[in-house]
Amino acid sequence: MNRREQWGSRTGLILSMAGNAIGLGNFLRFPVQAAQNGGGAYMIPYFISFILLGIPLMWIEWGIGRYGGTIGHGTAPGMFDSLWKNKLAKYAGTLGIFLPLVVLIYYTYICSWTLAFSFYSLFNLYPSAGAALAAGSAGEYLIPYQNYLYDYIGVSSGGVFQVPNPAAYAFFAVTLLTTLYVLMKGVSGGIEKLNNLAIPALFIMGFVLFIRVITLKSPVDPALTASRGFGFLWEPDLKGIISPKVWLAAAGQIFFTLSLGLGAILTYASYVKRDEDIVLDGLATASLNELAEVVLGSTIAIVSAVIFFGVEGAREISEGGAFKLGFISMPAIFTHMPFGQFFGFLWFLLLFFAGLTSVVALSQPAIAFFEDEFGWSRKRSVVSLGIFAALTVLIPMFVRGGLDEMDFWAGTFGLVILALFEVIIFFWIFGAENAWEEIGRGARIKVPRIFFYIMKYVTPAFLIIILFAWTYEQLPSVIAKGDRGVWATRLFLIFLLLLHIGAVRWAWKRRKHG
Ligand code: ALA
Repeated sequence: MNRREQWGSRTGLILSMAGNAIGLGNFLRFPVQAAQNGGGAYMIPYFISFILLGIPLMWIEWGIGRYGGTIGHGTAPGMFDSLWKNKLAKYAGTLGIFLPLVVLIYYTYICSWTLAFSFYSLFNLYPSAGAALAAGSAGEYLIPYQNYLYDYIGVSSGGVFQVPNPAAYAFFAVTLLTTLYVLMKGVSGGIEKLNNLAIPALFIMGFVLFIRVITLKSPVDPALTASRGFGFLWEPDLKGIISPKVWLAAAGQIFFTLSLGLGAILTYASYVKRDEDIVLDGLATASLNELAEVVLGSTIAIVSAVIFFGVEGAREISEGGAFKLGFISMPAIFTHMPFGQFFGFLWFLLLFFAGLTSVVALSQPAIAFFEDEFGWSRKRSVVSLGIFAALTVLIPMFVRGGLDEMDFWAGTFGLVILALFEVIIFFWIFGAENAWEEIGRGARIKVPRIFFYIMKYVTPAFLIIILFAWTYEQLPSVIAKGDRGVWATRLFLIFLLLLHIGAVRWAWKRRKHG
């Protein structure tokens, strides 16, 4: 077995983990979720989910990951297999490679749009608004910007297929090649170096944009100030506490934004030193992510939308989803402010850095699996992943509804299941005291004992409730919806899952005989 790589420095490790977590979810998904679920009504379930799911699962994943790494396993099949002496364990772990790979397929594509749009901003290639801007409504005003995005990603062409602009494939190719280059350089030589640079740069750009937004003057109504935008997001509203829909949205966001239940944190944690203080490092990761999400992510997109379009307009935009907020509303706002070309460039470059560092993290489980379980060289692993990503992107690119379908099964539903497997295997099968000791090893602070009970009882109970609620609330409507493109995507996902199970089976056979 090759000697496993390790992170070069503690700062590098924390920045890389932060880069793993901080992504498009922080800047596009969060503000939309918050606005769609009533702003202040959403934040209470959000913070409760952070404490009961986010922090505990972060520690659990770091604990399982480090444990697996010390015995040569960088992905969930090997980790679960060593924690639970049962033939099924490795198959439960299959999700730890399957889920990040599925998210990777569409996430890399969206990340490549941000690169394209930063380029378009820099060279001032946007259209200008057709209609006059009026407070309260964004509708007609945004049409040229909407057409611009649709022309790029090709969603307006009808039928099962959509045909993107040729530029979309070019920007995707650049994004993918950059990712492969970083992966080829390895964990400390590539991933860590990228994050050492990208994450500080991201925070600097984020704070510059934050200041720009809070000092913006409304072109339509002087009463629309930043504080109106903050009020919309932050005025607490207890309605959320009793709404299952708001709870589901908040808990789902906690998973996605922290990259939990995806296998990506597990894999990064497998390169951690045996006595690393994972308690503090895990907390630092989660805190950096929340700073990026709650302070920067919500302010930049939502507060600027409120200043430009009013509370109702911002709500209308958010109803249109994350792409409308990030790729339609933001360019419109930037084309109407001094130095908007520069700030627009900064916004999309920030998104690109956030996205790229997550793309790399979503890729690493597959690389680790090839290296650790197949015994492949890094080069062979990276090239194989590159071919896979270049071919499978054709689904979110060309198949209408393919992207959303992948996002639902992997990015919304699947990660809750993997997280449930993790808690049960670690705290109930491996043993709660063993798991607690494993997490605390090397830590300079003592985790309050209450978290022992949270991890053992509350987190799994919470996950089971979410799973049932989702199954009841969302599954029927998701399954019922389904034109040919969506069904083709589903068949592809089933095929891919079976392929993963086969790969795990093959790897274990090979190990037994080799
Ligand atoms: N955690 C990553 C994000 O927020 C996947 O986008």
